[in-house]
Amino acid sequence: MRSVSAARPTRFLLGLAVAALVGASAAAAAGAPGEPFFPRSGSHAYDVSHYDVRLAYRPAAAALEATTRIAAIARQGLRRFSLDLVGLRVTAVTVDGQAASFGRGRNKLKITPERPVARGESFAVVVRYRGHPRRVIDPDGTSEGWNRTADGAFAVGEPLGTAAWIPCNNALYDKAGFSFHVTVPAALRAVANGRLVSVGGKGALKTFDWTEKQAMAPYLALVDIGRGKLVRTEVDGLPSWTLVDPALARSSRPVLAALPGVVRFESKIYGPYPFDAAGSVVDFAPKLGYALETQTRPIYAFVPDLTTLVHETAHQWFGDSVGLQRWPNIWLNEGFATWSEWYYAERHGGRSAFQIFRQLYRVPASNHKFWEPPSGHPGQPKNLFTTSTYVRGAMALEALRLEIGTKKTLKVLRLWATEHRYGNADVGQFVALAEEVSDRDLGRLFQRWLYRRGKPGSGAVASASTAPLPG
Ligand code: ARG
Ligand code: ZN
Repeated sequence: MRSVSAARPTRFLLGLAVAALVGASAAAAAGAPGEPFFPRSGSHAYDVSHYDVRLAYRPAAAALEATTRIAAIARQGLRRFSLDLVGLRVTAVTVDGQAASFGRGRNKLKITPERPVARGESFAVVVRYRGHPRRVIDPDGTSEGWNRTADGAFAVGEPLGTAAWIPCNNALYDKAGFSFHVTVPAALRAVANGRLVSVGGKGALKTFDWTEKQAMAPYLALVDIGRGKLVRTEVDGLPSWTLVDPALARSSRPVLAALPGVVRFESKIYGPYPFDAAGSVVDFAPKLGYALETQTRPIYAFVPDLTTLVHETAHQWFGDSVGLQRWPNIWLNEGFATWSEWYYAERHGGRSAFQIFRQLYRVPASNHKFWEPPSGHPGQPKNLFTTSTYVRGAMALEALRLEIGTKKTLKVLRLWATEHRYGNADVGQFVALAEEVSDRDLGRLFQRWLYRRGKPGSGAVASASTAPLPG
């Protein structure tokens, strides 16, 4: 599913100039090919509108038996096409109900339909597969994909791990609706994205049907299987489902109880919550070590603190609803979610974002681990989730705030979330928007904070160490 983001009249040539400067070519803005970090992942030959994912998992054997049905539209004539798939054994593929021949390439399932699909035609692919789904090790050494736990498993996919359990078009630009039907031993629960539609029982097994109807990039898909109470509540008028590992239930309760307030706070500043469901998953996975903003329902591999909850919730706007065009633009996700932590603290009796900024700005230029790589230019996939992506990235937004004031900064963020809701956008478009709202040339500011190597010079923060918070 591709959304063409509303073409905004570019009244400011400055914005265009900066967009060109930061490498946002017109082609990239239009969603054209070219993912620099993962060029082998995804396909532009077709566009998926829906995934229907049926999984039966036996935790004791770590065995998966699955069928994924894909509804797609051909963007060009398809004599053959491929899906991203890591590991697993494919047993059958059909295209429009007819058996198709298939083979495997490196992390690919290559399909040759009986009859070519014509350009513009919609088509249905059914893939049956089974086996022991794998963990995927990221460029930075962390793990994603399918992860076993003591009582089940969970599956996450940033940036690429979803292909370890769903044959998919694993690309940022191809968002689609998802439904999940997960069958597990009756003592366990299975959670995925979106709303719980039904729970079916069949003797020793239970099937949980979930559906996320809002377009979702494959990397935001979630499945969690394990013991625990699946609790339904309401969050700001929306249905919310939460599953917490029993061992972590007590200690998680206070912070998870803050979710409604956090959603309300962020809705107030960024605009309406983008999805029709909410919730949390807390599973015991010390080896994973991070939390992830899986759409509608973040997963925490530990008992989250409030800051992390605020962070993952902010990603529902920045990252999930407004998606990236390309992975090197990760600043738009992590910088924004981190700044949201700071602003939340500021508005809830904690330190102000400016105080945090000022303290961090004291980190000496010699601390390369802190300042490098520049958040707008991670350079390599292994740098996607480094400290500078998050912290220097949040500082860039606070530097913007110092330059244009709080009101305009909040206006920019809200417009960003609104104008690109459910779409994909890039840094050049953000700069253009900030320039338009502020009526200022912000090229230098963003150059210094996002692109130039090393600690941004003190000119870059004006009189940051002494300035009062701008109004
Ligand atoms: N996006 C997640 C967060 O900041 C972090 C994901 C880290 N992923 C990884 N493969 N290292 O909330
Ligand atoms: Zn994050």
